[in-house]
Amino acid sequence: MSESWLIQGARVLDPANGLDAVRDVHIVDGKIARVAESIAPEGLLVVNANGLVLTPGFVDLHCHLREPGFEYKETVATGTRAAVQGGFTTVCSMANTDPVVDTPATVAFILERAKDAAAARVYPLAAVTQGFGGTQLVEMAALSDAGVVAFSDDGLPIADARMMRHALEYSLLVGKPIVNHCEDPALAHGGVMNEGLTSLRLGLRGMPAEAEETMVARDALLARRTGAHVHIAHVSTQGSVEIIRAAKQQGIRITAEVTPHHLTLTDSLVAQRLHAGKGTGFAYDTHAKVKPPLRTEADIKALVEGLNDGTIDAIATDHAPHSTTDKLCEFSDAESGISCLETAFSQAYQLVQDGRITLQTLISKLTVEPSHVFSLRTGTLSPGAPADIALLDLEGTWTVNPSAFASKGKNTPIAGTTLPGRVALTFVDGRPVHIADGYEERGATQT
Ligand code: DOR
Repeated sequence: MSESWLIQGARVLDPANGLDAVRDVHIVDGKIARVAESIAPEGLLVVNANGLVLTPGFVDLHCHLREPGFEYKETVATGTRAAVQGGFTTVCSMANTDPVVDTPATVAFILERAKDAAAARVYPLAAVTQGFGGTQLVEMAALSDAGVVAFSDDGLPIADARMMRHALEYSLLVGKPIVNHCEDPALAHGGVMNEGLTSLRLGLRGMPAEAEETMVARDALLARRTGAHVHIAHVSTQGSVEIIRAAKQQGIRITAEVTPHHLTLTDSLVAQRLHAGKGTGFAYDTHAKVKPPLRTEADIKALVEGLNDGTIDAIATDHAPHSTTDKLCEFSDAESGISCLETAFSQAYQLVQDGRITLQTLISKLTVEPSHVFSLRTGTLSPGAPADIALLDLEGTWTVNPSAFASKGKNTPIAGTTLPGRVALTFVDGRPVHIADGYEERGATQT
């Protein structure tokens, strides 16, 4: 039997169709049927969305679901539950699992897990090099046929320029991008945080901005040489933004993403001020250890400009869940990464509240633009599209409490912070998959 829903009276923000107005949204059989000023509710399941903002479900180009191999950190089931709690209805999962995603069988396993247990749509990426070894390309055609949307050794850079060139050349055969984690190993030289005053003060080895920027420049040149599409993962520095902007101006096929943490947090967060007895001192917060590292205010300013002028295409989470013991150790031994699917929207929404980007830009960078980067069919409310929807309460606030995360990863440097904007409800394929506490009464009434 077909199921029809009506989401009534929301401010509908759909950048794919240039729409920002109060509308009703009619869903039939899991697809968007119509977005119109007033739709008769008879016979439909009605959701009262007055006062809420309705957007296409968010599309995350970059997250770590950890399955297979690291199920103690996250699974497809828990990671996608975290996704929908954060308004994400499509997640693209990175290949640094165990085994690495370098065969069609592993892709099939992830897609099978997604079919059985995922709350959101899952699109896997495959590795670029076999076993992340950096020396032999994967079988791109077979992996593409198996359903991957892009190729990346994320977590590790493609350090060898000739390998990167070959990867880009071969990617032309399958028409899917190479995503690079840009970090020149020689320049990074084992750095564990941003190289700057804070690293100096803490006595921690720093990673200079140039470790990222030289590889971004290299990749832009190789994309120009090959004509292939390179996508730069988690851009974190002013120099990278400048290089990508110049490359785009030359018509090079380069796209880029930025994370909510690189847009809002600086390396000062690594140093925690401690008060003990009469003294004060500093300790390291391993929850602020992430790759690339948190940078500076000047970098944040450039990243925001990059969002505003189109240099940066997407906000992607790089959700990197880790276990408590992965983080409860010496700074240099701690794993890098932040669990952030559930905080991403609100963290980025702070930029709207501060007047640095518009709400339209934020939603565009979370929906239609990432969809275009990986040629996905989601991120839009066009008739016939999957009814993947986020309903946002922009007046609401909440306090980050990792123990309440759906993700197994409780690793966040912003625990206890109060953030603006709440994801009230999330729909995938026309069905509610998340209703936040306090919004239960919005749930469907049969008319
Ligand atoms: O901080 C990070 N963690 N950066 C990455 O690129 C990989 C990720 C992970 O897999 O934990």
